[in-house]
Amino acid sequence: MSKIRSIIRGVGGYLPKRVLTNEELSQMVDTSDEWIKERTGISQRHIAADDEMTSDLALAAAKQALDRSGLKPIDIDLVIMATTTPDHTFPASAVTVQAKLGIHQGAAFDMQAVCSGFVYGLATADSLLKSGGYRRAIVIGAETLSRIVDWTDRSTCVLFGDGAGAVVLEAEESNGELSDRGIITSHLRSDGRYRCKLFVDGGPGTSQQVGHIRMEGREVFKHAVTKIASTIHMSLEQAGLKSEDIDWFVPHQANKRILDGTAKRIGISPEKIVVTVDKHANTSAASIPLALNELYQSGRLQAGQLVLFEAMGGGFTWGSTLVRW
Ligand code: ACO
Repeated sequence: MSKIRSIIRGVGGYLPKRVLTNEELSQMVDTSDEWIKERTGISQRHIAADDEMTSDLALAAAKQALDRSGLKPIDIDLVIMATTTPDHTFPASAVTVQAKLGIHQGAAFDMQAVCSGFVYGLATADSLLKSGGYRRAIVIGAETLSRIVDWTDRSTCVLFGDGAGAVVLEAEESNGELSDRGIITSHLRSDGRYRCKLFVDGGPGTSQQVGHIRMEGREVFKHAVTKIASTIHMSLEQAGLKSEDIDWFVPHQANKRILDGTAKRIGISPEKIVVTVDKHANTSAASIPLALNELYQSGRLQAGQLVLFEAMGGGFTWGSTLVRW
């Protein structure tokens, strides 16, 4: 039976030029390079320039993904931008990117699932492409978290960075076989009982200010590995695959210890884990496409390989996606 699969045609990324090292941070708050590396694996993060907005980062990543896909703006009828740090409360930053890319057809909207935003965006685009109503989508994860970090709070400011990543998806008829290219399956979950464990203490309805990131780090850590692993098990089971079948594990880059803990629980060997948290820190919705971009640029990603994305973030939200490259 013929089925639609969403194929990843192109991937792109963008990181702001300014690099903030742990050493520099230790002159701003009471911390050290040693503490940050040992607890998180982070060495540095990129910080957007004062005149760079999230949509600027997103645009650069989207352009690169579009160039590499061989497609043109006229071909794109869906733009989904996952972000927690939009340029404005409204309109969606996705429409700014849509306009600057010269796309005047189809739909564009933002997606808010914090660090799980890219996985949520991929699953949403996949469903819309499968519906037959759209043909080609750009899914972007972009953040300027530096704008909502409390730079006096050492327990959070060491963790985050700015950046953007994007993929271009195209609907293609397939036989519905496991060996066919494209998104095989996605699982999305959330549990709002945990919304106070990781949140921003502001917003239009509360303080009318943007606010700052607040987090119970230990609580987030405690839930991360088990929740992420449960959706990965669902994805593997539904696809009839085993963890050994995965060629590349591209996780949300929150903390090296969470990445390693999840891979160990699932049974994925360390050489298959794509790690960028050391250089990028946690870029929330941008971290998965940025890590995918690094993998792509390294030349190690081969057609037919099985790639697993996973994320967890504020809400809590979490999820996973299995893709045949
Ligand atoms: N430098 C030095 N000391 C620090 C720092 C810092 N940057 N931050 C906290 N400390 C201190 C604390 O004050 C505390 O001191 P005390 O014992 O004197 O009270 C001590 O270090 C231990 O603090 P904990 O919070 O218990 O440290 P923990 O080992 O849990 O590590 C961390 C903290 C790294 C935040 C960890 O809990 C973690 O990684 N949690 C996951 C959070 C995360 O990744 N969030 C990202 C968003 S969610 C997501 O993307 C999945």
